[in-house]
Amino acid sequence: MIRGLHHVALAVRDLGQAAHFYAETFGFGPPEKTEVIPEQGVRAGLINLGNAYLELLEPTREDSTVGRFLTRNGEGLHHICLETDDVDAELTRIAARGIDLVDSVGRQGIAGMIGFLHPRSTGGVLIELVETGGAGGAMVEFDGRKLRVLIAKPGLDGHDRGAKVVARALRDAGMEVIYTGIRQSPEMIAESALQEDVDAVGLSILSGAHMELCPRVMQLLRDKGLGEVAIFVGGIIPDDDALALKAKGVKGVFGPGTTTTDIIDFIRATVTPQK
Ligand code: CO
Repeated sequence: MIRGLHHVALAVRDLGQAAHFYAETFGFGPPEKTEVIPEQGVRAGLINLGNAYLELLEPTREDSTVGRFLTRNGEGLHHICLETDDVDAELTRIAARGIDLVDSVGRQGIAGMIGFLHPRSTGGVLIELVETGGAGGAMVEFDGRKLRVLIAKPGLDGHDRGAKVVARALRDAGMEVIYTGIRQSPEMIAESALQEDVDAVGLSILSGAHMELCPRVMQLLRDKGLGEVAIFVGGIIPDDDALALKAKGVKGVFGPGTTTTDIIDFIRATVTPQK
């Protein structure tokens, strides 16, 4: 069953600039969710219009589908998306009518399971179907839970101005942030991550002990079944150490020049809610 319009998608060269245009011109809020989808070479943002969404699609590489669309057509309307209870059943039903599909079964998209019909069967309109899991309330289940981030300061240094600045910025960006305070042991941090049910842990380490503390925290998280929780670290970390930490599974390493926007963008692009 089709429930209605979920979103209209636009191909844009600059997602931030396009979102700004819609905010300034019509008073819409910023995108509720922005996500990089590497396989599709696209960064997608969803702006809530009240009864449907506007999806802004910015290519991350020229040879992606949206990149080629922009080269061919310039900016403009890209596709419309209809909401359904069951994307696979709809795709099967539509295929049985002799309509060509891009996707014969659903796959994961920014707002839920999606599948596309081919424009050669639809009068030139690219039509997407989405199954969000919410009863008409698009995005609610997928995105209704805010990202939860633990900001922790392991080790002996007592300078937590940077950690506090990051905690506040993430909160202002709409995330739920738990700050542990200074001089936490790796055990205390892993326990907080478990208790607080977080999606990501940010470690602020100025003591120089990052090569001991990061792997230790990660091991303790794995021991608690939290191996999927994304770890990022900020501090004064030499390039070689940064590479070594990333090789061990640290998702992001941020040095002194990092802006809070860099960290917010990183979290939005990298971290997915655990449940
Ligand atoms: Co779409």
